[in-house]
Amino acid sequence: MDTFVTDSPADAAAFIRGGGIVAFPTETVYGLGANIFDEESIRKVFEAKNRPADNPLIAHVSDPFQIERLVNAIPRSAAAFIEAFFPGPLTLVMPKRPEVPDVATAGLDTVGVRMPGEPLTHEFLAACGTPLVAPSANISGRPSPTTWQAVLEDLDGKIDCVLKGRPSHYGLESTVVDCTGEFPVVLRPGAISIEDLRSVDPRTENNAGDSEGTARSPGMKHKHYSPAAKVVLVLPGNPFNTDGDCGFIGLHNPDVKCEKTVVCASIEEYASALFDFFRECDRRGLKQIFCETVSEEGIGAALMDRLRRAVE
Ligand code: TXA
Ligand code: MG
Repeated sequence: MDTFVTDSPADAAAFIRGGGIVAFPTETVYGLGANIFDEESIRKVFEAKNRPADNPLIAHVSDPFQIERLVNAIPRSAAAFIEAFFPGPLTLVMPKRPEVPDVATAGLDTVGVRMPGEPLTHEFLAACGTPLVAPSANISGRPSPTTWQAVLEDLDGKIDCVLKGRPSHYGLESTVVDCTGEFPVVLRPGAISIEDLRSVDPRTENNAGDSEGTARSPGMKHKHYSPAAKVVLVLPGNPFNTDGDCGFIGLHNPDVKCEKTVVCASIEEYASALFDFFRECDRRGLKQIFCETVSEEGIGAALMDRLRRAVE
């Protein structure tokens, strides 16, 4: 199929209404959207990404009132997080309504809901007139796309349309919080940090990462965020050796000369540059990638999470 590339949210939304699948920008990463009430379209999303069927999708809404079409009760903690952080880089897992198809949620009785803050995303979602499911718009296992060019690199010819927007502001996927239990649990760290969440609900916990934790967040057990190159973590200022073409990303200039070196001015900049850096290293066929570790505060926790997954 030919993939239509456009900067018109109305034109992109027409593909969704016709049962197609459309990649679109958000402030976290680019997503691959389908009408959440159209099972056939949702299957196309899994197929285009080569995504395991047991990995649930996030529902994206343009307005808070759409949440009520998806969930049968908004838990108290979720209501407080919605008030504080929507629209933004946050996904809340809540009990789902039966109208939300099982293919969307991989058979779970819960659904993750997010309301993106990027203005172009809002325009697009509003023009669709329905909530969309949208995983990151990459081939499963590859780094999430933070530009429309990265989407085409993975999915050109496999999806109906790409809505072109600016590069994703945060560059890491949304924080996922399970709000169905006694207290909120962070299943995936993101730009909304645990400190931010605790300022609203002090009971918020990190996922223990044990077998029960993995069962709560099916997506986290799959291999993620990996470039083809071997990723090695290095402590700030520590020397490292390389035996071939390498890449480096971090906050300080390395002693070693690499083919591709990215020195960032802040942890935020490092987070937003990471996935594009991984892709660039792969384009250049580099064998090794050195990534400087950062302190795990704020978005640093999410950045370290993605770095550790890239090493695995
Ligand atoms: O920032 C984001 O969240 C991006 C943009 C496009 O919005 N989307 C994204 O989707 O990262 P995806 O499919 O790549 O990651 C979804 C994550 C997976 O780890 C999945 O297991 C988890 O969210 N998830 C989705 N629904 C869930 C549910 N009902 N219960 C537990 N985890 C869920
Ligand atoms: Mg993903």
